[in-house]
Amino acid sequence: MPIPVLTIDGPSGAGKGTVSRLVAKKLGWNYLDSGSIYRSLAIALQQTSAGLKNVTEIVRVAQAMALDFECGDELIVKLNGEDITGRLGLESTGSAASQIAALPEVRRVLLQKQQDFRRLPGLVADGRDMGTVVFPDAENKVFLTASAEKRAERRYKQLMEKEIDVNLAELIKEIDARDRRDMEREAAPLAMAAGALYIDTSDMTINAVVEEVLNLIR
Ligand code: C5P
Repeated sequence: MPIPVLTIDGPSGAGKGTVSRLVAKKLGWNYLDSGSIYRSLAIALQQTSAGLKNVTEIVRVAQAMALDFECGDELIVKLNGEDITGRLGLESTGSAASQIAALPEVRRVLLQKQQDFRRLPGLVADGRDMGTVVFPDAENKVFLTASAEKRAERRYKQLMEKEIDVNLAELIKEIDARDRRDMEREAAPLAMAAGALYIDTSDMTINAVVEEVLNLIR
Protein backbone atom coordinates (compact mmCIF):
# COMPACT_ATOMS: atom_id res chain seq x y z
CA MET A 1 0.00 0.00 0.00
CA PRO A 2 1.50 3.39 -0.95
CA ILE A 3 1.68 6.00 1.81
CA PRO A 4 -1.50 8.12 1.46
CA VAL A 5 -1.20 11.68 0.21
CA LEU A 6 -3.77 14.47 0.07
CA THR A 7 -2.72 17.26 -2.29
CA ILE A 8 -4.05 20.80 -1.90
CA ASP A 9 -3.13 23.14 -4.75
CA GLY A 10 -4.24 26.63 -5.64
CA PRO A 11 -3.21 30.28 -6.01
CA SER A 12 -1.82 32.41 -3.17
CA GLY A 13 -4.32 33.45 -0.52
CA ALA A 14 -6.84 30.70 -1.32
CA GLY A 15 -6.46 29.40 2.23
CA LYS A 16 -4.25 26.39 1.41
CA GLY A 17 -1.82 26.86 4.31
CA THR A 18 -4.43 27.24 7.04
CA VAL A 19 -6.66 24.47 5.69
CA SER A 20 -3.78 22.05 5.04
CA ARG A 21 -2.36 22.51 8.54
CA LEU A 22 -5.75 21.94 10.20
CA VAL A 23 -6.53 18.89 8.05
CA ALA A 24 -3.07 17.42 8.75
CA LYS A 25 -3.60 17.95 12.48
CA LYS A 26 -7.04 16.29 12.42
CA LEU A 27 -5.71 13.30 10.50
CA GLY A 28 -2.44 13.12 12.45
CA TRP A 29 -0.57 13.25 9.12
CA ASN A 30 2.64 15.02 8.14
CA TYR A 31 2.46 18.37 6.41
CA LEU A 32 4.46 19.73 3.47
CA ASP A 33 4.36 23.47 2.79
CA SER A 34 6.11 23.26 -0.59
CA GLY A 35 5.99 27.05 -1.07
CA SER A 36 8.29 27.42 1.93
CA ILE A 37 10.95 25.38 0.10
CA TYR A 38 10.92 27.82 -2.84
CA ARG A 39 10.81 30.71 -0.37
CA SER A 40 13.80 29.28 1.56
CA LEU A 41 15.78 29.05 -1.65
CA ALA A 42 14.95 32.69 -2.40
CA ILE A 43 16.36 33.63 1.02
CA ALA A 44 19.43 31.42 0.54
CA LEU A 45 20.10 33.28 -2.71
CA GLN A 46 20.03 36.65 -0.93
CA GLN A 47 23.06 35.45 0.98
CA THR A 48 25.00 34.83 -2.25
CA SER A 49 25.75 36.86 -5.35
CA ALA A 50 23.83 34.44 -7.57
CA GLY A 51 20.85 36.74 -8.25
CA LEU A 52 17.62 35.30 -9.64
CA LYS A 53 18.76 34.53 -13.20
CA ASN A 54 22.04 32.59 -12.99
CA VAL A 55 20.60 29.06 -13.30
CA THR A 56 23.86 27.18 -12.64
CA GLU A 57 24.50 29.11 -9.41
CA ILE A 58 20.86 28.84 -8.29
CA VAL A 59 20.93 25.06 -8.78
CA ARG A 60 24.19 24.86 -6.83
CA VAL A 61 22.69 26.82 -3.91
CA ALA A 62 19.50 24.68 -4.06
CA GLN A 63 21.52 21.47 -3.88
CA ALA A 64 23.66 22.75 -1.00
CA MET A 65 20.95 24.21 1.23
CA ALA A 66 20.12 22.27 4.39
CA LEU A 67 16.51 22.83 5.45
CA ASP A 68 15.01 21.89 8.76
CA PHE A 69 11.25 22.11 9.34
CA GLU A 70 9.78 22.09 12.82
CA CYS A 71 6.03 21.63 12.57
CA GLY A 72 4.47 22.89 15.79
CA ASP A 73 1.56 25.32 16.01
CA GLU A 74 3.57 27.48 13.67
CA LEU A 75 6.01 26.20 11.09
CA ILE A 76 9.61 27.05 12.00
CA VAL A 77 12.14 26.83 9.19
CA LYS A 78 15.89 26.74 9.59
CA LEU A 79 18.20 27.29 6.67
CA ASN A 80 21.72 25.97 7.27
CA GLY A 81 20.96 26.20 10.99
CA GLU A 82 19.64 29.79 10.92
CA ASP A 83 15.98 30.47 11.82
CA ILE A 84 14.50 32.23 8.76
CA THR A 85 10.81 31.94 9.76
CA GLY A 86 10.37 35.71 10.10
CA ARG A 87 11.48 36.45 6.54
CA LEU A 88 9.66 33.56 4.95
CA GLY A 89 6.25 35.25 4.81
CA LEU A 90 7.34 38.54 3.26
CA GLU A 91 5.69 39.26 -0.10
CA SER A 92 9.14 40.15 -1.50
CA THR A 93 10.25 36.59 -0.60
CA GLY A 94 7.15 35.18 -2.33
CA SER A 95 7.83 37.23 -5.40
CA ALA A 96 11.49 36.11 -5.63
CA ALA A 97 10.35 32.51 -4.97
CA SER A 98 7.95 32.62 -7.91
CA GLN A 99 10.70 33.90 -10.22
CA ILE A 100 13.07 31.02 -9.44
CA ALA A 101 10.15 28.55 -9.36
CA ALA A 102 9.69 29.17 -13.08
CA LEU A 103 13.08 27.53 -13.78
CA PRO A 104 12.67 23.83 -14.68
CA GLU A 105 16.19 22.99 -13.44
CA VAL A 106 15.33 24.39 -10.01
CA ARG A 107 12.07 22.42 -9.85
CA ARG A 108 13.95 19.24 -10.74
CA VAL A 109 16.42 19.71 -7.85
CA LEU A 110 13.64 20.43 -5.35
CA LEU A 111 11.44 17.51 -6.44
CA GLN A 112 13.07 14.85 -4.27
CA LYS A 113 13.25 17.16 -1.25
CA GLN A 114 9.45 17.43 -1.46
CA GLN A 115 8.80 13.74 -2.11
CA ASP A 116 10.87 12.90 1.00
CA PHE A 117 8.03 14.30 3.13
CA ARG A 118 5.87 11.31 2.18
CA ARG A 119 6.09 9.36 5.42
CA LEU A 120 3.65 7.27 7.42
CA PRO A 121 0.89 7.62 8.43
CA GLY A 122 0.26 10.05 5.54
CA LEU A 123 0.95 13.47 4.06
CA VAL A 124 -0.99 16.63 3.35
CA ALA A 125 0.94 18.48 0.63
CA ASP A 126 0.20 22.13 -0.14
CA GLY A 127 1.44 24.01 -3.22
CA ARG A 128 0.88 24.60 -6.93
CA ASP A 129 1.88 21.30 -8.54
CA MET A 130 1.38 18.77 -5.73
CA GLY A 131 -1.39 16.86 -7.55
CA THR A 132 -0.03 17.33 -11.07
CA VAL A 133 3.74 16.76 -10.74
CA VAL A 134 5.09 15.97 -7.28
CA PHE A 135 2.49 13.40 -6.13
CA PRO A 136 0.54 12.52 -9.31
CA ASP A 137 -0.49 9.19 -7.74
CA ALA A 138 -2.13 10.83 -4.69
CA GLU A 139 -5.55 9.32 -4.14
CA ASN A 140 -7.11 12.56 -2.89
CA LYS A 141 -6.63 15.90 -4.62
CA VAL A 142 -8.13 19.30 -3.90
CA PHE A 143 -7.94 22.60 -5.78
CA LEU A 144 -8.65 25.60 -3.55
CA THR A 145 -9.32 29.03 -4.93
CA ALA A 146 -11.09 32.31 -4.10
CA SER A 147 -11.79 35.61 -5.81
CA ALA A 148 -8.77 37.86 -6.38
CA GLU A 149 -10.16 40.47 -3.94
CA LYS A 150 -10.66 37.92 -1.16
CA ARG A 151 -7.20 36.46 -1.65
CA ALA A 152 -5.53 39.87 -1.47
CA GLU A 153 -7.61 40.78 1.59
CA ARG A 154 -6.55 37.58 3.38
CA ARG A 155 -2.87 38.06 2.57
CA TYR A 156 -3.17 41.66 3.78
CA LYS A 157 -4.66 40.54 7.12
CA GLN A 158 -2.01 37.82 7.50
CA LEU A 159 0.82 40.28 6.95
CA MET A 160 -0.73 42.89 9.27
CA GLU A 161 -1.07 40.24 12.00
CA LYS A 162 2.63 39.56 11.65
CA GLU A 163 3.15 43.33 11.92
CA ILE A 164 4.55 43.46 8.42
CA ASP A 165 3.64 46.84 6.99
CA VAL A 166 2.01 46.62 3.54
CA ASN A 167 0.12 48.78 1.14
CA LEU A 168 -3.05 47.01 -0.07
CA ALA A 169 -2.91 48.41 -3.61
CA GLU A 170 0.76 47.36 -3.95
CA LEU A 171 -0.04 43.94 -2.52
CA ILE A 172 -2.86 43.34 -5.02
CA LYS A 173 -0.44 44.20 -7.84
CA GLU A 174 2.28 41.87 -6.49
CA ILE A 175 -0.08 38.95 -5.93
CA ASP A 176 -1.56 39.41 -9.37
CA ALA A 177 1.90 39.37 -11.00
CA ARG A 178 2.92 36.31 -8.96
CA ASP A 179 -0.25 34.33 -9.81
CA ARG A 180 0.07 35.19 -13.48
CA ARG A 181 3.71 34.01 -13.49
CA ASP A 182 2.73 30.78 -11.67
CA MET A 183 -0.07 30.02 -14.14
CA GLU A 184 1.68 31.00 -17.34
CA ARG A 185 5.09 29.38 -16.79
CA GLU A 186 5.94 26.29 -18.82
CA ALA A 187 7.38 24.21 -15.98
CA ALA A 188 4.65 22.75 -13.75
CA PRO A 189 2.22 25.68 -14.06
CA LEU A 190 -0.49 26.14 -11.45
CA ALA A 191 -3.34 24.01 -12.78
CA MET A 192 -6.08 21.83 -11.39
CA ALA A 193 -5.13 18.14 -11.36
CA ALA A 194 -7.45 15.74 -13.13
CA GLY A 195 -10.06 14.46 -10.70
CA ALA A 196 -9.37 17.13 -8.08
CA LEU A 197 -12.19 18.46 -5.91
CA TYR A 198 -12.65 22.17 -6.75
CA ILE A 199 -13.53 24.42 -3.80
CA ASP A 200 -14.12 28.17 -4.07
CA THR A 201 -13.44 29.43 -0.53
CA SER A 202 -14.47 33.08 -1.16
CA ASP A 203 -17.60 32.91 1.01
CA MET A 204 -16.74 29.91 3.19
CA THR A 205 -15.48 29.75 6.76
CA ILE A 206 -12.21 27.92 7.38
CA ASN A 207 -14.09 25.21 9.31
CA ALA A 208 -16.47 24.62 6.42
CA VAL A 209 -13.56 24.16 4.01
CA VAL A 210 -11.77 21.82 6.44
CA GLU A 211 -14.96 19.74 6.78
CA GLU A 212 -15.40 19.48 3.03
CA VAL A 213 -11.79 18.32 2.60
CA LEU A 214 -12.10 15.81 5.45
CA ASN A 215 -15.29 14.42 3.87
CA LEU A 216 -13.28 13.60 0.78
CA ILE A 217 -10.90 11.46 2.84
CA ARG A 218 -13.69 9.78 4.80
O1 C5P B 1 2.57 29.07 -1.52
P1 C5P B 1 3.59 30.17 -1.42
O2 C5P B 1 3.00 31.53 -1.55
O3 C5P B 1 4.42 30.04 -0.21
O4 C5P B 1 4.57 29.94 -2.67
C1 C5P B 1 5.53 30.88 -3.06
C2 C5P B 1 5.86 30.69 -4.53
O5 C5P B 1 6.55 29.45 -4.70
C3 C5P B 1 4.64 30.60 -5.44
O6 C5P B 1 4.20 31.88 -5.89
C4 C5P B 1 5.14 29.72 -6.57
O7 C5P B 1 5.78 30.46 -7.56
C5 C5P B 1 6.18 28.85 -5.93
N1 C5P B 1 5.66 27.50 -5.71
C6 C5P B 1 5.69 26.62 -6.76
N2 C5P B 1 5.28 25.34 -6.59
C7 C5P B 1 4.82 24.93 -5.41
C8 C5P B 1 4.75 25.82 -4.32
C9 C5P B 1 5.17 27.12 -4.50
O8 C5P B 1 6.08 26.98 -7.86
N3 C5P B 1 4.45 23.67 -5.28
